[in-house]
Amino acid sequence: MSEPSPTDLEAVAERAIAEVRPGMKLGLGTGRAAEAFIRRLGKAAAQGLDVVGIPTSERSDALARELGIRVTSFEHVPRLDLAFDGADEVASDLSLVKGKGGAMLRERVVAALAERFIVLVTPDKLVGALGEKCPLPVEVVPFALVPVRRRLEQLGTVALRVTSAGSPYRTDNGNAVLDVSPASGTWSAPRESDALIRALPGVVDTGFFFAMASLVLVGEGGAAREVRAR
Ligand code: A5P
Repeated sequence: MSEPSPTDLEAVAERAIAEVRPGMKLGLGTGRAAEAFIRRLGKAAAQGLDVVGIPTSERSDALARELGIRVTSFEHVPRLDLAFDGADEVASDLSLVKGKGGAMLRERVVAALAERFIVLVTPDKLVGALGEKCPLPVEVVPFALVPVRRRLEQLGTVALRVTSAGSPYRTDNGNAVLDVSPASGTWSAPRESDALIRALPGVVDTGFFFAMASLVLVGEGGAAREVRAR
């Protein structure tokens, strides 16, 4: 997948910030698009916009703090007004694949507790069917890796995610990630596959997000357009 243009990410961040009102509680996603939004929010905060954020990863937490955005947790805030995050694939019904950055579990918790979940992408993320461009990340408790992997191999090709240094990748929750490419090329019945995978003991989460996105903003040609569920 090609690198998204910084101009398109900035355009999408600019459109996204228009949704934010003073006093809002915000979910802060993970990845390049989410970071573009956090940077834009940092500028707004520096100009006096008073909001608080709950980040979905250690990395986004560090970036938000560095930019002077107030960061909180669910101990202090029961619900969020808006959550902003990227995605790896977006289908026409706004179902998503997420988790290339390994943060899908916290991303799901944050999105589920937000009134609206706004997804920020570039056009290369739009797909006809989930699985077309990206394997499905599955977060697994390390103890259960071998049996879960064996079962997932009946669905397609499975790769254990490793770091650039070659050691097993660990999420912020201390878990491993298996990336599954479906045998048929795309997921023909993603909800059924998701239910099957989630039922395996030791699976903590998958990258499928169904019926969660309220709005998708697509940055293209230096502008942002809105995509809503058909
Ligand atoms: C993080 O785990 C992911 O779900 C990201 O939201 C997703 O990978 C999109 O990242 P980019 O905006 O960097 O493409």
